[in-house]
Amino acid sequence: MCGIVGFVSHSGGGITYILHRALKALEYRGYDSCGIATVHENRIYFEKDKGKIDEVFVQINPEELPGPLGIAHTRWATHGAPSRENAHPHLDCSDSIAVVHNGVIENFLKLRKELTSKGHNFKSETDTECIAHLIEEFMSNGCGIFEAIKKTIRRLEGSYALAVVSARDPGRLYCARNESPLVIGLGEDGNYCASDIPAFLFWTNKVIVLHDGELATIGSESVAIENVNGLKIEREPVVVSWTADMASKSGYPHFMLKEIHEQPKALRDTLKFKQQTIDKFAEIISQAEQLYIVAAGTSYHSGLAAQSVLSQTIGIPSQAIISSEFANLVGNSLSENDVVIAVSQSGETIDTLRAIRHAQSKKSKVLAITNVLGSGITREADLVFYTQAGPEIGVAATKTFLVQLTTFTRIALKLLDNFGTNSPAYTENFREKLNQTPQALNQVINKLEIKTKSLASFLAEKSNAFYLGRGVSVSTALEGALKLKEISYIHAEGYSAGESKHGPIALVDEGFPVIFIAPNDVTRKDILGNVMEMRARGAYIITLGEEGDKELAQVSHQFLDMPQGFSLPFSPILYVVPLQLIAYYTAVKRGYDPDKPRNLAKSVTVP
Ligand code: M6R
Repeated sequence: MCGIVGFVSHSGGGITYILHRALKALEYRGYDSCGIATVHENRIYFEKDKGKIDEVFVQINPEELPGPLGIAHTRWATHGAPSRENAHPHLDCSDSIAVVHNGVIENFLKLRKELTSKGHNFKSETDTECIAHLIEEFMSNGCGIFEAIKKTIRRLEGSYALAVVSARDPGRLYCARNESPLVIGLGEDGNYCASDIPAFLFWTNKVIVLHDGELATIGSESVAIENVNGLKIEREPVVVSWTADMASKSGYPHFMLKEIHEQPKALRDTLKFKQQTIDKFAEIISQAEQLYIVAAGTSYHSGLAAQSVLSQTIGIPSQAIISSEFANLVGNSLSENDVVIAVSQSGETIDTLRAIRHAQSKKSKVLAITNVLGSGITREADLVFYTQAGPEIGVAATKTFLVQLTTFTRIALKLLDNFGTNSPAYTENFREKLNQTPQALNQVINKLEIKTKSLASFLAEKSNAFYLGRGVSVSTALEGALKLKEISYIHAEGYSAGESKHGPIALVDEGFPVIFIAPNDVTRKDILGNVMEMRARGAYIITLGEEGDKELAQVSHQFLDMPQGFSLPFSPILYVVPLQLIAYYTAVKRGYDPDKPRNLAKSVTVP
């Protein structure tokens, strides 16, 4: 939540353009207000306002923000409503220190009181502003800027990724992190810091990940890192395989649509990535006394699907638990013989990080599945598998659901190879089908995109929808409903079809849309019964079923035919995609921007 960026250039020109472009790549982290500060000849120049990045930057005259270095911020409000005053950067009393911040300063009220009593004048309601004044206070007591920042962060409680510039130091910017992501980019034309790699991918893919408790001094040709105790840190940059094109829309109207279309490639890349790590995951899982999967949102839905995949294919029981409830639910029952798999696209979801910490406090083994190099989760888990989705910029998760599930399916296959009691033919068919999923997915998109678009025109007029499934398809239903509600603002509920009769069916009347996920597996017969019950109450039935399933097609008002032969464990990977397309086109039809749904940010770093 919130994106920060900083740049120090060799040449001194074009700072506003670069910071604007970099910030755009972080817009998924928040978009209610934004701002920029540059330093030129011992003076800070800044602009900020409420509104999305392009709306605010169109009013900024780059000539009026001169200088070779600057910082910028895009906000998702936590302390104080979206407004010009609360937008970052925040400055000290004399406008000579500017700060951008991602995170939450938990002791800000105490600090604010202390600083106000010393004569500091606060202009916003934010927790961040106390950082600028605290630095000012230390500097007025004789500290240099770096020392003042170091002393300041020792006083901060909570999470932060900070970038700071000072009018007294027009050649360098400073950054620090604790529990909020911060990466440094080493470019030809200068050096960067940012909340996430896509911010500077257009200029460089050489990255240094800053760790908790570390600070960096960034010049145009140098980066020096030390920890809060003054220990100097030497860290080699890593070269990431992501490209600028991956983080751009490449001609698509929205990132979400581009990312839906990238899914076959994401599957292919994830299928061939690091067999050794998959083997290690399988080995650790096979020794677990209890196996838990912790995640939030879409990642939780993939965890739920994985629970069915592991139990149905290899007979390994597991429990998928929403991260924010993990400690409450498992409490002290965890032990060192248990294994917790944390799943997170961003690797920064605070609830998931807290679940990991709870697991580690009980000495359980923690495995992580994430998409983002150097994210918080990767430093806290015992072993990490990186999904190969490439950057996912649209706030609604799409390709990461598929690649997370592909990862679990690969683990299930490895377990089958090692311990399966199924016939060799079953395992071979499993392997073959898994490898065919990218191609099958291509066919699904080619065949069904137009149909989902016309269904979206129908759904766009509705206020409610149900998504129903059984078995592994409950997770597909939950994910389909989440997609529709979060980007089109239509109330949608994902439910177990069996459970729908225990209450939700009361809502159904003439024309109420009910979307059934009905692959050709053991649940199909019961689903058919549920379709008839909903139909008898006037529901408008949309069904996703196997091509050639005439019986289902006949009882549906709309039938989306899916490829034959892809039931459990593959059905969620394929069946969720038409649901993503339906949600996307419904949002567009209703005039909303699917990439930036209201009130949401892509990584949720506050509990
Ligand atoms: O980065 P994570 O996978 O940990 O994020 C979890 C959720 O915040 C995320 O899936 C969220 O629900 C998305 N908006 C879903 O589209």
